[in-house]
Amino acid sequence: MNEDIPQLPNYDESSLDAAFATLAEEVRAETSAPVDVEAFRLRWLGRKQGRLKLISDAWLKNAPPEARKPLGMRFNDLKQRIEVALTDAAAAPARSAAKAGIDITLPSTVRAPGIEHPLLKTMHEIVAVFHHLGYSTALGPQVESDFYNFEALNFPPNHPARDTQDTLVLAGQQKRPSRDRLLMRTHTSPVQIRTMIAQAPPIRIVVPGKVHRNDAADATHSPVFHQVEGLCVDSNITFSDLKGTLDHAMKALFGSGVKTRFFPSFFPFTEPSADVQISCIFCGGEGCRKCKQSGWIELLGCGMVDPAVFASVDEQRVAQGKPAAYDPAKVTGFAFGMGVERIAMILHGVSEIGQFYSGDMRFLEQFA
Ligand code: PHE
Repeated sequence: MNEDIPQLPNYDESSLDAAFATLAEEVRAETSAPVDVEAFRLRWLGRKQGRLKLISDAWLKNAPPEARKPLGMRFNDLKQRIEVALTDAAAAPARSAAKAGIDITLPSTVRAPGIEHPLLKTMHEIVAVFHHLGYSTALGPQVESDFYNFEALNFPPNHPARDTQDTLVLAGQQKRPSRDRLLMRTHTSPVQIRTMIAQAPPIRIVVPGKVHRNDAADATHSPVFHQVEGLCVDSNITFSDLKGTLDHAMKALFGSGVKTRFFPSFFPFTEPSADVQISCIFCGGEGCRKCKQSGWIELLGCGMVDPAVFASVDEQRVAQGKPAAYDPAKVTGFAFGMGVERIAMILHGVSEIGQFYSGDMRFLEQFA
């Protein structure tokens, strides 16, 4: 360090001026490019090893008494220059940000940690209830063929039940046989068929996913929405198993106080079919606006797998070289399908389905 200390040959005014001009130039040169501000401060102003301290010690030691004052004044002057250079260097990043049009004095953007979307959250909650009962998750494509979406589920071509599930079909497929034409699936039920063709009983699956229908958007309908499907096939599966399973699932989702009841209904692929209602969770069954004074809320469709569906599955299995495995005399099963939006709306008291798709943070943040 000491060889770094410049010599001062003479203490007359012009030697002092020249020596301090050299030091000032050193400071200027060191700060002409961006500097490590703290390193620069230590190098020049460090209390024990700082350059200013070392130089003033060396030069004052041999100074004749009359030179002490002019020396001291020049050291003070140099110290001030260094301090100004330091302040300047510290402000440099802000200056270049300002030049780039960035105002670094503004508060920064706060990025909230992400949360699960309320629909996905509800979907996961439903799926989890069935995972606890030993079901696995199965998935299928959103672009589905007429065969899986309708025909194999016992909706023959031109059957009126298709009208309730009108959807978008892909263009330019007129040359294909109707069963191979592609459409946006109208329900998650085609995954029942895909799973049974791929695998012999026993089967216990849940199928979460997106579906499409030609429905006008209103407070409770959206042309794109989500369902969770369920399928259980084994020997000796009865309607009581269906009732017990869904009663348990509704209690797990909505609270142990809810009651369920089953109403006759129709789906081409289940026989018998039922609509499941739960006691109104808003009024406890007394009757209120939400349940249209009935005390009950209709929630999902279900039924026993129609033997015609098993027949169609086995026909495909055999065509693919697999053994038939769904003899209706030996296996039975039940299926159910529920709308995720509808369940999320009831669980969270949401009255407009569109809120889920709005991307409005004020809505979404409430589920954090
Ligand atoms: N897929 C039917 C629908 O979307 C619901 C359902 C599924 C009914 C399974 C019975 C069994 O309306």
